[in-house]
Amino acid sequence: SKGDHPYYMIKEILEQPDAVEFTLGERENIQRIVDDLGDIKNICFVACGTSYHASLTGKYLLQHLAKIKTDVVLASEFKYTADTLDKDTLVVFISQSGETLDSMNALRIAKETSPTLAIVNNIGSSMTEEAKYTIITQAGPEKGVAATKTYIAQLTAIYLFAGLLANDEKLINELYNVPGYIREVLKKSSEIEVLSKRYSFADDLFYLGRGFSYPIALEGALKLKEISLIHAEGYASGELKHGPLALINHKIPVIVILPPGSDYEDTMVNLEEVKARKAIILSICAEGDAKAECKSRDVFTVNSKVSETIAPLVYTVPLQLLAYYVTLEKVA
Ligand code: F6R
Repeated sequence: SKGDHPYYMIKEILEQPDAVEFTLGERENIQRIVDDLGDIKNICFVACGTSYHASLTGKYLLQHLAKIKTDVVLASEFKYTADTLDKDTLVVFISQSGETLDSMNALRIAKETSPTLAIVNNIGSSMTEEAKYTIITQAGPEKGVAATKTYIAQLTAIYLFAGLLANDEKLINELYNVPGYIREVLKKSSEIEVLSKRYSFADDLFYLGRGFSYPIALEGALKLKEISLIHAEGYASGELKHGPLALINHKIPVIVILPPGSDYEDTMVNLEEVKARKAIILSICAEGDAKAECKSRDVFTVNSKVSETIAPLVYTVPLQLLAYYVTLEKVA
């Protein structure tokens, strides 16, 4: 039940630290899968919607850490990839429900040629029966229409999988700090509630991120569109100048995802481009980031120990809250 919460969405956003903790409990199962896989040359993710955004993060992680060439395909576009699969390509299906038709159809085709792994939240769903390997994300049933806790649980499973495949102890250990980082964000949800009053007027918003923060931008925009019915675009921040920068003006809020790390300075250059066009800037950045604070109208800050590599697990949460509170503001 929703308990004391007015909507399932907020209840499930608040359950995210547990979703991460419980999904970390899948470590031994994931290690067994990694051991059994042996030498995998390529990986291909197949998914829809929010699960597609989790897959994009997976691609960056696997290529960056494990140096495994990785593709990400929308399940509805799978037809144009199917013929290039082979036995050395692991095809990974990401799905909350484990039932999405386009993904199911692609799984039935992929298993003819390739080893398959389904990462799903629903035990006993069709995909768990069809795939060779299964990882269950331990988010518990998701009742809200917007995927929130299942997304963070999918990311947790993908980070564990990539970390174990790459033997990256440091990354794996850092995952155990994520529930705490998310709790810190949730404790400040009233700040997002206040900010939502300053942004709910907008007809169009842009979300910008680079590298690991690019899928965060896509997911932030999708949540806002789906729940508040406000138009939003997620963009790779370096791509904005190739056309859409012309749309930016003093009426357009731009949410900039700015975690500390190797992409920070380049994203800051893009922030300055939209600032020059008088955009209303809300930066999601690290605590103590004076530069972001001085260049943005508003900031929401995250623990400065959250680096860009694990930012998707934490920086997504304020954007979920923003979509939720902007929607409440609009219907009020
Ligand atoms: C967005 C959302 C959808 C789903 C998509 C895939 O909040 O919920 O975009 O992510 O329909 O669904 P699954 O993951 O069940 O395959």
